[in-house]
Amino acid sequence: MNIVGISAFYHDSSCCLLRDGRLVAAASEERFSRRKHDPGTPAEAFAFCLRQAGLSLADLDAVAYYEEPRHKLARQLWAGVPQAPEEGDAAWSRDLAWLDADLAEDTLRRRLGFDAPFLTFPHHLSHAASSYAFSGFDDAAVLTVDGVGEWATTSYGQASGDAIDLFEEVRFPHSLGLLYATVTAYLGFRVNGGEYKVMGLAPYGQPRFIDQICQLVGMGDDGQFALNLRYFDFLTGRRMFSPELCELFGQPARPAESAIEPFHRDVARSLQLVLEEILLEKVAYLHRRVGSQNLCLAGGVALNCVANGRIHREGPFRHLFVQPAAGDAGGCLGAAVLAHQKLTHRSARQSLPHVALGPSFSLHEIGLLLRDTEIEPEDFSDRPQHLADAVAERLAARRTVAWFQGAMEFGPRALGQRSILANPLDPEIRRRLNRDVKKREAFRPFAPCVLADQAHLHFRLSQASPFMLETCTVESPLALPGITHVDGSARPQTVDGAVLPHLAAVLRAFEAQTGCPLLVNTSFNLRGEPIVCTPFDALSCFARSSLDTLVMEGFLIDRQQLPSHWPELLEHWQGADSRRRDISRQLYTFV
Ligand SMILES: [Fe+2]
Repeated sequence: MNIVGISAFYHDSSCCLLRDGRLVAAASEERFSRRKHDPGTPAEAFAFCLRQAGLSLADLDAVAYYEEPRHKLARQLWAGVPQAPEEGDAAWSRDLAWLDADLAEDTLRRRLGFDAPFLTFPHHLSHAASSYAFSGFDDAAVLTVDGVGEWATTSYGQASGDAIDLFEEVRFPHSLGLLYATVTAYLGFRVNGGEYKVMGLAPYGQPRFIDQICQLVGMGDDGQFALNLRYFDFLTGRRMFSPELCELFGQPARPAESAIEPFHRDVARSLQLVLEEILLEKVAYLHRRVGSQNLCLAGGVALNCVANGRIHREGPFRHLFVQPAAGDAGGCLGAAVLAHQKLTHRSARQSLPHVALGPSFSLHEIGLLLRDTEIEPEDFSDRPQHLADAVAERLAARRTVAWFQGAMEFGPRALGQRSILANPLDPEIRRRLNRDVKKREAFRPFAPCVLADQAHLHFRLSQASPFMLETCTVESPLALPGITHVDGSARPQTVDGAVLPHLAAVLRAFEAQTGCPLLVNTSFNLRGEPIVCTPFDALSCFARSSLDTLVMEGFLIDRQQLPSHWPELLEHWQGADSRRRDISRQLYTFV
């Protein structure tokens, strides 16, 4: 039974493959197309899933889609999308094109070429299944929270065995995801992506605007809440917030990329706190309704790791599972599981020890790429411990290491397959990585990875955290300026040597050299670009960054080993972001 799950046409289009109920592949289209949050047909992710399992189109038994296009269309029509057209309004004609409930299926069939049955599932049920089915729990309460699916924006459920019953929902336009997105837009960050920045900014501010945020959202009985729509304008499809929201805060919206003032930090802090309080109250309600010690979270709001940490610490549930690709990318997992269970009447529940479900590349393939450059890497392929020692040595000397190992992660986090590693003891590392490598705002924090058996010596964590989806307090005998946020928190990944042997070896070697069993672990990409996928992406990203060392499987390359003519090329490159595509082609001719 081969089932491909698909999320598409909103943001982060993705595919996964279940073979006889086991998850064997998953990837987001952005990693192949190199277009961040790519919302288009996930053609390359689809092809990858088939290739990974050695399948042809004829081998597919079903394609499972993560939402119900007809119900979504009904909501879009209710919301008045599209609005009355303005002459030459390209956005309107795009919207109009989507006013066809069969378009998703037609488009996918035409572009992907499959004949297999096409099954659709409700958006929030897909989110719920994507979490519960991979939680390892036999029963759980389920909470899904996002911007909007078809109509639901939040759903409450009970899961037992293979059954999931979503017994209550909050409906559009009342949405915690849209509340957060609206204030994100007001603060000058991009909706569907900038929310992380607001969360990262919040600890720097004071909660001076709690009253104002509470005017935006009113609490209802049970699981309900309601937005005060006079402050929101997203129903018009033109912008997120209304002029009244600016009046409420007493300031116009922050223009993108302009200076971040204390006011913006205070609004971010207030928003984050109100979100956490609402979620805590709703989780308490869910616990009263569902007699389980286990909670599964999914939906884009479940990527708010600060809220997750509070839910785990202060909420009534003992065990928490957050699906690592909790946003819409991960919806394809749930749809595939639901399709498998519907078609076979057999369970597709399974544990998820890691999310290394994307493409991997052999030493031979990487060697071929490097052979055609003038780069002569150091080859540690037969000496894994020597590689770990060499990497740890560089990290101890406060050098940064781009780390490319095994199959690419599914979901927004780099978890040791496509990571940048750095020294958390270095007080300068945060500024340096933000300024020189990630080219992003100085306030953005970095997360650590830590040997699982030593995590309790440095963090107040009550369970393993393999997916970096929960913040906790740093309680370490070491000063860890590289990974400790301004409020004393961090978002650790616990590394199990049985799951991630190469990364664990580097952590152990780093500990042997420095006494510190943890490292900065941030995603291997430059600002505005998706995380690297292929060895070429890795080499290109490394070349354009100021990272010191690149490790690809057993090969190690220090920056000074880059060909002598590359610096000139790179100088040109770094000064010409807008011409990046042309220059990429230029570099490709070199490699
Ligand atoms: Fe969603």
